[in-house]
Amino acid sequence: MRTITLLQPGHILFGNGCADQCAEDLLARGYRRVFLVSSPPLVELGLIALLVSALEAGGAEVVVYAEIDREPTVSMAEVAIENARALNPDAIVGVGGGSAMDVAKVVAALHDGDQRVSDILGIGLLEGRRTFLACLPTTAGTGSEVSPNAIMLDEAANLKKGAVSPHLVCDAAYVDPMLTVTMPPALTAATGMDAMCHCVEAYLNLNPHPIVDLLVLEGVRLIGANLRRAVEDGDDLEAREQMALGSLYGGLALGSVNTNGVHALSYPLGSEFHVAHGISNAVLLPYVLEFNLSAMPDRYAQVARALGAEEGSAVEETARSGMDALKQLSADVGIPTRMSDLGVSREALPRMAEAAYTVQRLLRNNPRPMSVGDILKIYETAY
Ligand SMILES: [Fe+2]
Repeated sequence: MRTITLLQPGHILFGNGCADQCAEDLLARGYRRVFLVSSPPLVELGLIALLVSALEAGGAEVVVYAEIDREPTVSMAEVAIENARALNPDAIVGVGGGSAMDVAKVVAALHDGDQRVSDILGIGLLEGRRTFLACLPTTAGTGSEVSPNAIMLDEAANLKKGAVSPHLVCDAAYVDPMLTVTMPPALTAATGMDAMCHCVEAYLNLNPHPIVDLLVLEGVRLIGANLRRAVEDGDDLEAREQMALGSLYGGLALGSVNTNGVHALSYPLGSEFHVAHGISNAVLLPYVLEFNLSAMPDRYAQVARALGAEEGSAVEETARSGMDALKQLSADVGIPTRMSDLGVSREALPRMAEAAYTVQRLLRNNPRPMSVGDILKIYETAY
């Protein structure tokens, strides 16, 4: 068995209402200048107001920076860092989906140092982080609250890139399912399928690990059984709770085993055509699974069982019924099935294949090696 390093926040709180604990914890640790990174809809929904008023009542100065209105670019993160510098914060809080949390992570790491955002794109390039960082996810989700990754569009290269560093793992994650109940159905579907991809790709992985297998197979089961319910009735708190748990499990896999071909092929759809991360993953998932099937049919069959799919007479048959179940889930929650439905132009496919091929940090986990030609073929089939 290979050696694995598990990276996760020192404190993970999970449960309905646990977000209320965040202000108290920050104040108890002595933090008095809090820079809060979030997104415009969350301010409108009032999700941040309680946290801000509790911090202010405790004597803290709070600057709310709710400017993360789309998947972040390097320059968006640079602007956020500039804004943080005016406060000289002693704690950073990210409240939102992966976009807001990723920016919060980068701000916490860079606001008081000399490194620029472009310096840390890659693996292990960040020198350190001195400022306390808390994350509160409002989707279920990206898993960013527990991962060592921050994903941003590098405008210079027109490519989505990841900053990956143990210093980007936050100090405290508050996973409160109640923060997700106001999420609209389409966002619930997209982020839920992203979480499903984290679990599936970590399980159907060239470098899996038994510790992570435990988490992500359960994640597949939870998301498979609850995503439809959460999309149909956002107030179904039980479904929201199970989704938050599944998302957390997927997130915990990101630092140690990570995703593979689906996420790698998905990035160019976001870079060039601004397709939402969860949507591009969900659309590509069946096509990448088809490509990888021959490498590990037994593991595919385990995914099928976790989804409650029909057991076939041979392992390949069971594997296929699991793939069908994933396709059906995606369709049931309203996600398109083809890249041509996403505003992607066919002429772009060859350069997208070249771009996806550069995401070797994920492709090296893919069960089967993927050449540029293989990637192009997958895109063409998915188009
Ligand atoms: Fe993802």
